[in-house]
Amino acid sequence: MKMIKTVSILKVLNGNIKIGSNIIIKGWVRTKRVSKKGFLFLMIYDGSCLTPLQVIVHNFLKNYKEISLLTTHCTVEVIGKICKSKGKKQNVEIVANEVVVIGKIENPESYPISSKQHTIEYLREVAHLRPRTNIIGAISRIRNTIAYAIHSFFNKEGYIWISTPIITSLDTEGSSAMFEIISNKNSENNNQINSSNFKSEHDSFFKKKVFLTVSGQLHAESYACALKKVYTFGPTFRAENSNTNRHLAEFWMVEPELAFGRLNDIAILSEKMLKYIVSIVLNERNDDLFFLSKKIDNLILNRLEKFISNDFVQLDYRDAIKILKKSKDEFKRSVLYGIDLNTEHERYLVEKYFKNTVIIKNHPKNIKAFYMRLNDDNKTVSSMDVLISGVGEIIGGSEREERYNFLCLRMKENKINLNKYSWYTDLRRYGTVPHAGFGLGFERLISYVTGIKNIREAIPFPRAVGNLNY
Ligand code: 4AD
Ligand code: MG
Repeated sequence: MKMIKTVSILKVLNGNIKIGSNIIIKGWVRTKRVSKKGFLFLMIYDGSCLTPLQVIVHNFLKNYKEISLLTTHCTVEVIGKICKSKGKKQNVEIVANEVVVIGKIENPESYPISSKQHTIEYLREVAHLRPRTNIIGAISRIRNTIAYAIHSFFNKEGYIWISTPIITSLDTEGSSAMFEIISNKNSENNNQINSSNFKSEHDSFFKKKVFLTVSGQLHAESYACALKKVYTFGPTFRAENSNTNRHLAEFWMVEPELAFGRLNDIAILSEKMLKYIVSIVLNERNDDLFFLSKKIDNLILNRLEKFISNDFVQLDYRDAIKILKKSKDEFKRSVLYGIDLNTEHERYLVEKYFKNTVIIKNHPKNIKAFYMRLNDDNKTVSSMDVLISGVGEIIGGSEREERYNFLCLRMKENKINLNKYSWYTDLRRYGTVPHAGFGLGFERLISYVTGIKNIREAIPFPRAVGNLNY
């Protein structure tokens, strides 16, 4: 007799396993319904897809009583045969020969996430249990598909994935709020660690002040200046005091860096990358997107289809300011040439004026980081921000200043200690090359694709200002 295999529900529902096969399914109960005809239905999920598999349990199974007491999220192993379903809602179902109860829910009445509808804010407070819900399950699968699409895109385009350090002594953006890292080796009481425990920086673990990185860009530049096309994809950290629905203290960033690349090259790359990712999600996670469109925003699918077919709008910062100045909308922050655009301005341009994804280029140098390449007007830099509906800025990037003297001058203007960045400026002394790159906020993209309103649902265990529960 053929061995019975454990298979995923996704495979069963996709028709990859023949009707009549005997299989094992391992998973959890979504719902249970008792029929008057001597059997009950269990809907089982196993994380592989949104749709649960229907299992028919006849009352002649020896532990039928135990099975009939199962509640939502109990763990089971089902051994049975795949049959054509008589019901209209599904094509196939399993008729169980055996249901092994592996894990019960203690006191179902006090289980924090019973089958009742809970608010998304409540679910955030039970972050260890929320992956069991359909909504967080769907977002998690989409997050995984996006991560895989990113690697697959860059691999196809000939980019080499590199990992850049998380612990760093440099502030990539020049003026970011960073988290300082302090080892507790010299501290008697680990709960009271702060830099004052050390007599000087030189007592500390690395013999210098170190931080959690805000971006892998500077290190990625070093590799781009040797391997030409590279990207880094990892966690980044910002100690900004921004309690909004689009800021996290710990988030992931995708940062390609392209030697011999100019602004136009990375603008094209960003559009191609975003459209590739969205098309993969539309193809591979249609069931999850359909669920989210019913649950959160019924325009999701329509929005994503349009996103793929429309060309992004590109315009200079100067022209964006002109458009905003002419607008009849009242902005909290008044519009002047030289301001860093706020979310309200970004969303006006994307959602009202262009009704399209927008790339704003060539910002005034004073509002951008020291590494961005100075344009010939000596006033603006060769920068770009990609703005997307519902979210605002999703990508920030630029040409990098590859001219040694220009870079040192900008760093001095920004009061940056050149000695600390000597390896970075070296790249301009030894075989310099024009290069450009950008950073994509991974969770902001997940928010856009899933339509979820708060970025705290786009990452499993969110860290945000005043908020670290897990
Ligand atoms: O625009 P940013 O600050 O650019 C950089 O860090 C560059 N060094 C990237 C590069 O050129 N390699 O950040 C890039 C993107 C933003 O557009 C935004 O999507 C996301 O990172 N981001 C955040 N996402 C969530 N929470 C935060 N606090 C974020 N800060 C930036
Ligand atoms: Mg930015």
